[in-house]
Amino acid sequence: MKTVTSFSLFGGALALSNQKVDIVAQQQPLLQNACPSNSILHNGECQLSTYDTSSTITLGYQSNISHITQTLEDSRETASRIKDFPWNFSPECFSTEATEEPYCVFSDQNFASGRGIFIITTKTLAYAMLEKDAFTRPETLSRMNHFENPPFYKHDFPGKGRGLVANKTLQRGDQLFASTPILITDPDLYDLPNSERLALMHRGIETLPVASQRVFWELMGHTDDDPIDDRINTNNFEIAIDGVSQSALFPEIAMLNHDCRPNAAYFFDEETLTHYIHAIKPIYPGEEITITYTNNEEERSERMRRLEKNWGFKCACSTCTAHPHLVEESDARLKHIAALQKVLDDWTPASSATPAVAELLISLMQQERLEASLSIGYKHAAEVYSSFGMKWEAVKYAKLSVELSMLDKGWTDRDVWEMKKMGENPEMSWSWQKRVGLVAKSAGCGCGGRH
Ligand SMILES: *[C@@H]1O[C@H](CO)[C@@H](O)[C@H](O)[C@H]1NC(C)=O
Ligand SMILES: *[C@@H]1O[C@H](CO)[C@@H](O)[C@H](O)[C@H]1NC(C)=O
Repeated sequence: MKTVTSFSLFGGALALSNQKVDIVAQQQPLLQNACPSNSILHNGECQLSTYDTSSTITLGYQSNISHITQTLEDSRETASRIKDFPWNFSPECFSTEATEEPYCVFSDQNFASGRGIFIITTKTLAYAMLEKDAFTRPETLSRMNHFENPPFYKHDFPGKGRGLVANKTLQRGDQLFASTPILITDPDLYDLPNSERLALMHRGIETLPVASQRVFWELMGHTDDDPIDDRINTNNFEIAIDGVSQSALFPEIAMLNHDCRPNAAYFFDEETLTHYIHAIKPIYPGEEITITYTNNEEERSERMRRLEKNWGFKCACSTCTAHPHLVEESDARLKHIAALQKVLDDWTPASSATPAVAELLISLMQQERLEASLSIGYKHAAEVYSSFGMKWEAVKYAKLSVELSMLDKGWTDRDVWEMKKMGENPEMSWSWQKRVGLVAKSAGCGCGGRH
């Protein structure tokens, strides 16, 4: 994220789908000051942390350290002497005046059946992660990190680099990856002097199990910077854990290239710390599997600018390279899509939202081949039909929205939950008949005159 420190949350390979941008926009302040230093935040409450603060390990949490204090073996030895210590190495830490809590590297080599993980963040946030199912119920990870016999192969595209190509037909909903990160880093690490930030990263890599170190070094960077920093910055993903933005690295998916109209979607499940990728439309043998690195509802020039700045490549997707006349039409559709969503989000009495507006929105998204965005288009349609008391149309679009949102936002997402409820019982939803009175007053809604 070095190249974009001016807005560090969006930097690096912060591959954000349109909905994920919202998470970052509504981001809460870091939780580091939310609890006293001897406790951690759990389910919104401060609880005493489980490790023994009286032991020698407190040394590892001291913030007045200008260099790594222990050799790798010494720090392993120190950690092993402490009863029930959750990490394999004594954490090395740095802090500045700007940071109340030091940033430390926490490493667990046994995570995810020996795949391992290291986390560079504050103690508060690292121990909050320890409370997730991924750590407390390792059996929930039994389905993750199965990379053998995949439905694709690696291919070298001239002038573009490596990519993954399907070797069997994939249908919407087919899972491509379910992977846990080998590392998580706090975007606020940039508060530290560069040398200290890099020292933590280098120590982190050293603590990974050998197999995970190997997949890390197979990654490609795109600058002449520090080789570890560059690989992380080029390949990491923005995730949110308990509303706090973090960067995570899932090396196996790094070979997925960007497309403005991708055929696969991803989401991050916080409880299992798992990044899922599924096909969102049929993918045929010989077709490259793609995801988006950026917000595809932005106009071409903006997409190109971001991709060049953050990943160092010229966007070559079909909508970036199309004839200027086609680009102009595509950009016009994207503007129209944004405008229609504003109309549909208007719940004041002056709103001009009608089912016809939602149908147009869906049609434009289909023309633009914005598959993942359609989950939002369908949600708008479900809500507007519900607001006019049209039950079965609301149910239909709620179901369509759930199917796609589960692949793009994950099964625990709030929108998914809301649309599931709507699909079961629209009459109980907050939007039900909200606009019925308005129709009677105005000339009609163009929605079939059901009332
Ligand atoms: C940091 O610790 C060293 C001893 O380890 C001490 O000499 C130094 O004064 C401390 N610096 C600050 C700023 O506390
Ligand atoms: C697809 O290619 C992968 C190699 O990446 C191989 O392991 C797998 O067996 C192939 N599957 C099919 C159906 O050919």
